[in-house]
Amino acid sequence: MLGEFQSLVPTGVSRIAFVTQPGIDVSLESELPSSVHFIPDGEEAKKLSVIGELCSAFASNGLTRKDLVVGIGGGVVTDVAGFAASVYHRGIQVMHVPTTLLGQIDAAIGGKTGVNIPEGKNLVGAFWQPSAVICDTDVLTSLPKREFQSGMGELAKYHFLGGEGLDKLSLEERVAACIQIKADIVAADEREGASRALLNYGHTLAHALEIEGRFDLRHGEAVAIGIQYAALVAYALGRIDEARLLEHERVLDHYDLPRALPEGCDIDRIMELFSRDKKAMNGLTFVLDGPEGLSVVPGVPENTLRDVLTQM
Ligand SMILES: NC(=O)c1ccc[n+]([C@@H]2O[C@H](COP(=O)([O-])OP(=O)(O)OC[C@H]3O[C@@H](n4cnc5c(N)ncnc54)[C@H](O)[C@@H]3O)[C@@H](O)[C@H]2O)c1
Repeated sequence: MLGEFQSLVPTGVSRIAFVTQPGIDVSLESELPSSVHFIPDGEEAKKLSVIGELCSAFASNGLTRKDLVVGIGGGVVTDVAGFAASVYHRGIQVMHVPTTLLGQIDAAIGGKTGVNIPEGKNLVGAFWQPSAVICDTDVLTSLPKREFQSGMGELAKYHFLGGEGLDKLSLEERVAACIQIKADIVAADEREGASRALLNYGHTLAHALEIEGRFDLRHGEAVAIGIQYAALVAYALGRIDEARLLEHERVLDHYDLPRALPEGCDIDRIMELFSRDKKAMNGLTFVLDGPEGLSVVPGVPENTLRDVLTQM
């Protein structure tokens, strides 16, 4: 699959800038002149100064408007490479080669790119669609187990977005099925006017736990806890029955994901963070399951949200 890279390079490209991280051992063969740019590991790399440094390096290497940026890495790399490509020369083509499970089924798909600022995560960025995304599951063999598990948290989410039989598929088929689900949702609502927000299932509590920052949780693990919470809230509101609640628990357990709130969680603080969530449009807004599947539900009663947190 990685071998198809050269055939996917758009015509007219005469130079390639690869953006990656030091620990990622994935190389691509190309007949074109190229440069390799390393960015730091972790959220630290998602900042405006890194975008500036990359653009300067692109310019020093003679990258023009017609050329190509290729992001090789997890969501951090594809978010940064994609954003740099979106602003360099007012936008040049980008291709992604996601090397984490989370990247393959989520971050590299759908064109959201961006970096963090002190005021918040992913607050500066652009919608910038890649010309191609190469998802080769062979590259996942070197991924640390915990990173792989983190991807499973996002994968579990797709079960409730039309991917009911995902657990019966091979890894390769699962990745392809998740990409299809995400691509269909994004194609219907690229700029998150409405239905794209469903991809945030489980993310409101996940973001609050991540902002809290005291817990040793990878993103997908936080999402898994958030999915369990959203299911309990939907059940408390009478939107789903017990069988559907148990289906959530079965899926999360199948992927060996956490479902309980981390010990020592401050419920007042979580409630405060809910009301600051950037997706809060009208009271407390949650993506919740219901008789017709997932939907964006505004005005979820605060006492229900608090009660369910207390019981978790
Ligand atoms: N743009 C989007 O739509 C979107 C969606 C979800 C998440 N994200 C972003 O993605 C980021 C998280 O991405 P992530 O979970 O992929 O983490 P990550 O990019 O930080 O990668 C995790 C770690 O694995 C290493 N790694 C990557 N591939 C490897 C491989 N094949 N073998 C060994 N090590 C490898 C990385 O160097 C890093 O240390 C967050 O910043 C999040 O905001 C973006």
